[in-house]
Amino acid sequence: MRLIGAASIVYVLTIAFAFSGGISPTAPNVAVAANSEAARNAPLHDGQAIFRFDTFGDEQLWTDVLRMHEVIPTIDPATALSVGLKVDVEALPSEIVAALRARQVDLTNPAVTVALLKLNAVVGVKGTLNDAGQLTKVGVTCALCHSSVDDSFAPGIGRRLDGWANTDLNAGAIVALSPALDEATKAEFRTWGPGKYDPRHHAFDGTNIIALNSPSLPIVIPPIYGLKGVGFETFTADGPISYWNSYVGVGQMGGKGKFADPRIGLFISQSPDVVTPKLPALLKYQLSLQPPTAPADSFNRVAAQRGRQLFFSEARCSSCHQGPNFTDVLSGPDRSVPFLHDPEEVGMDPAYADRSATGKYRTTPLRGLLQHRPYFHDGSAPDLLAVVEHYDRLFALNLTASQKADLVEYLKSL
Ligand code: HEC
Ligand code: HEC
Repeated sequence: MRLIGAASIVYVLTIAFAFSGGISPTAPNVAVAANSEAARNAPLHDGQAIFRFDTFGDEQLWTDVLRMHEVIPTIDPATALSVGLKVDVEALPSEIVAALRARQVDLTNPAVTVALLKLNAVVGVKGTLNDAGQLTKVGVTCALCHSSVDDSFAPGIGRRLDGWANTDLNAGAIVALSPALDEATKAEFRTWGPGKYDPRHHAFDGTNIIALNSPSLPIVIPPIYGLKGVGFETFTADGPISYWNSYVGVGQMGGKGKFADPRIGLFISQSPDVVTPKLPALLKYQLSLQPPTAPADSFNRVAAQRGRQLFFSEARCSSCHQGPNFTDVLSGPDRSVPFLHDPEEVGMDPAYADRSATGKYRTTPLRGLLQHRPYFHDGSAPDLLAVVEHYDRLFALNLTASQKADLVEYLKSL
């Protein structure tokens, strides 16, 4: 399988399909406004089930095209854990938990991986087995990238933490196991590293993997908790949550559905569309996810108080990181148009933004910062001190070492 050029595919544009009433005139196919009737009425548990377990039929990518069902049975659980896959301990029957505890489960035996899939215990990966116990289909869910576990049982094994960024997930290394990709593509994916993914490198249209941009520019997989009231939730603010859910659910996960955005020249139309009808419930669930609070012993309270002062005055952080969500994205004259920053204004590499619909970056809301290193869209700041150093240089703030340390303590507390 080779990536084929977008230009070689002719689409029948059906922009007037199921979509109606988006909140932004600049994001054309937004299915659901955050305040829509449909989202308000959607049951929460539905959204959780969709988030955790729904593949939207993306087996058409992961099985039919990438043939991951052929590779997975050769991978032992220790290796799967080492590329960041997580095991939901609550999905395991008590005898398995007991056996794990007694070290009677061979984590170097690939058959155990398949057994875990059969139990639906691998977070974000859904396997289907035939009567002979062979893996016949595999697909992925939103939880693959946006869930972790609390490691309560062992590293990588614990209770689900929905909405947490899976900062260990080496999505590139996993996809590079596909026997269907050529060597050059695999080599490129292997360079992404843990906690990153490039959602603008390619898209899947239901049949083919279409090349979008090259070379790939992997970005940090963000957490998706604490998004209530944020608005235009992606790094480049292309649209609200459901716009991006549709973009990823259809074009990246490979679910069966429709997505169209002339701003980026991407048009995918498959029917039946099993993604769009689920967006309201999925949205409601995402908005319910709360950020973790920083444990009291994880930062110095007194220093954080001093850091807070700096954040709101000398260090000028609050000129952009403002309001309850620490972002100015909704601060423009028209709330249906995101307020954004040119890459050079914030000292960011423009390359990723150039591939988006806006060409700019949104001020990232700050929450649960301790949980999701590294920082900035491209992960260019390995830790919070690097973030502060970045701004100190960029805005010539001349902060002293102890002021920088205080700011870091404040950021840790958010
Ligand atoms: C293969 C990994 C992957 C999967 C699977 C995935 N996402 Fe994401 N998600 C990302 C990346 C990378 C971004 C960053 C894109 C950006 O913000 O520009 C992102 C961004 C987001 C954001 C914006 C968060 C923010 O504040 O920047 C939301 C919300 C989101 N995803 C929800 C979902 C939902 C719901 C699903 C399932 C339909 C899903 N994602 C599936 C990787 C993934
Ligand atoms: C001119 C507007 C502006 C100012 C001033 C500003 N920021 Fe930011 N901040 C942004 C933008 C835009 C981003 C997203 C950059 C990216 O990821 O490309 C960001 C990202 C961040 C992030 C990364 C969050 C994450 O989850 O990756 C942190 C942390 C942060 N800023 C802290 C600060 C601190 C501390 C200050 C003050 C020293 C500050 N910012 C000043 C606009 C600003």
